[in-house]
Amino acid sequence: LNLVELLLRKEGPLQVESLMKYVDTALESSSRAAEMTKQLLTLSRKSELKLAPVDVTLSLKHVLKLCQNSFPKSVELDFHIGEKPLRVQADPLQIEQVMLNLCINASHAMTIMRPERGRHGGVLTVQTEKVDCDRNICARHPDARPGIPYIMIRVSDTGVGMDEETSRQIFDPFFTTKKQEEGTGLGLAIAYGIVEQHGGFIDVYSEPGKGSAFNVYIPALNDISPEQRPGAARANIITGSGKILVIDDENAILHIARGMLEQCGYEALTAPSGPEGIEIYMREHASIDGVLLDLAMPGMSGLELFKYMKEIYPGVKVLLTSGLMENEDIRTAMALGVRGFLQKPYSVEELSLKIKEVLG
Ligand SMILES: Nc1ncnc2c1ncn2[C@@H]1O[C@H](COP(=O)(O)OP(=O)(O)O)[C@@H](O)[C@H]1O
Ligand SMILES: [Mg+2]
Repeated sequence: LNLVELLLRKEGPLQVESLMKYVDTALESSSRAAEMTKQLLTLSRKSELKLAPVDVTLSLKHVLKLCQNSFPKSVELDFHIGEKPLRVQADPLQIEQVMLNLCINASHAMTIMRPERGRHGGVLTVQTEKVDCDRNICARHPDARPGIPYIMIRVSDTGVGMDEETSRQIFDPFFTTKKQEEGTGLGLAIAYGIVEQHGGFIDVYSEPGKGSAFNVYIPALNDISPEQRPGAARANIITGSGKILVIDDENAILHIARGMLEQCGYEALTAPSGPEGIEIYMREHASIDGVLLDLAMPGMSGLELFKYMKEIYPGVKVLLTSGLMENEDIRTAMALGVRGFLQKPYSVEELSLKIKEVLG
């Protein structure tokens, strides 16, 4: 586990004090420490991630301005900014930070990283494109999902490039080949963390003496995708597919659960009572991937129902829900083979996560 992973895995916001302490002991140079602290604090703000539809084309325009204002004139900026919006579900500031970190590295690779330093320069090219992940890329990146559209942002330079040994380490926090004042080794670690949080990945190509290309892939927002429906902008839902049977004696819950499941990409069947649930399950279990089951129903309890369904099909995947979940019920259900629990009331995010876990 590297530092960034550690930071990103924390649930809540990190204690600023413990971060400071870490940075203090890890570093001697005070100015370097200050810069790192700033960057580490960016990482620790994970819980404040504000996801909303973001147009990458617009982000790119902002980044271009920043580059024009701060890079040496020897770095020629070749930004291909199209007219079409390229939408992703993202934190807009973080996406800009990823692009900026890559552009700064590209600029360095053509100036201060050259053996003769200074002047030489080169061309910094940025391109964006909506793509599907091809097989080569999917094979290299376990996180890549074939068949879903991604927005790709390519930042390439004609700088010094990297050998294989360097390439292997570039995403490690604090790995840098630059002088103390020029690098912290955190730029790419941070970019990696951000992109990963957005469900994306980074593909790198480089050749010593020729240059480098960093391709950032972030899942695209489709115009017909459920994430874009009004009210879903904040939702951090995990999508899936398959047919889910919802059994609950409250009609309102059935209605809400169906809406949520559809929002997550599932198809939902609903049954307003235990016996009706069993009837549907008996008839259609071959096409039902999972069951969302209310624990407390009049007549036949969720657990009894579960036993019947297990007789119909022993591999039945059940996610139990309840407003009042006693530890004892949970233990009993676990022993019987229920796959998961969800406390009512639940959010679409919670449901999407649990149902994915249960379906395995
Ligand atoms: N475009 C690039 N061309 C050549 N080397 C690069 C490029 N981008 C990153 N690197 C290498 O990766 C290292 C880590 O980059 P980064 O995490 O941004 O830290 P820093 O820029 O502070 O050194 C750099 O020190 C450099 O050796
Ligand atoms: Mg950097």
